[in-house]
Amino acid sequence: MSANPRPLVAGNWKMNSLRADANALAAGVAAKHKAAGEIACDVLVCPPFHLLTEVSAAVAGSGVQLGAQTCHTGVSGAHTGDVSAEMIADCGATYVIVGHSERRADHGEDDATVKARAEAAHRASLNAIVCIGETEGERDAGNALNVVESQLAGSMPDAATAANTVVAYEPVWAIGTGRTANTDEIKEVHDHIRKILVARFGDDGNGMRILYGGSMKAENADGIMAVENVNGGLIGGAALKAETFWPIVEAAL
Ligand code: PGA
Repeated sequence: MSANPRPLVAGNWKMNSLRADANALAAGVAAKHKAAGEIACDVLVCPPFHLLTEVSAAVAGSGVQLGAQTCHTGVSGAHTGDVSAEMIADCGATYVIVGHSERRADHGEDDATVKARAEAAHRASLNAIVCIGETEGERDAGNALNVVESQLAGSMPDAATAANTVVAYEPVWAIGTGRTANTDEIKEVHDHIRKILVARFGDDGNGMRILYGGSMKAENADGIMAVENVNGGLIGGAALKAETFWPIVEAAL
């Protein structure tokens, strides 16, 4: 196994924050990173599209990186309401989340379109954070590992490398519910994902970050980050305040 991947803690702001709040939040996270100095963890904030440019300015020079929450598959053209990976990169972002379960549910995104979005991210030199995760019904039926395996097979581009792609395991039943998967459940799935990544991508599969997401917060982050093959987190609710987000970064160090 290659060296442990450098952890990544990403704040997914979802459809939250007007400009003033977003700027204050970005400035707060930037200040925490500046105070911490060089740390052994990548820190990312993913605001809504219209705030990318402002947040880019607010975090400039702090070490905090910028990402978007989805992208279209094309470069440009007649796609009303969509935003391309190139446009996201043009705002100063270096990451984009693709295939979040809320996108899969609200916009009917299937594995093939998630894969196409990840390929679009790579085309624009963005890192893709590819989200997968089972529903409560799928887990209760004993299908969690199968679901994750098939989402991974369908959603990961063939050209994925440790340098351009991150996997986020987010059990749908744990997102925004306050109910976190326990460390045994997380370990079982993350170990399985690692095995699949190594089988498909060789040594790059060892270097790919696998994030956990779903009601992660300061109180449970230490335990989750200590699980083998957990290389950081994708954080929703707790990412909306610098005071609740930063302890999760510290748990990853
Ligand atoms: P949550 O969201 O931390 O609010 O559960 C995580 C996510 O959806 O990325």
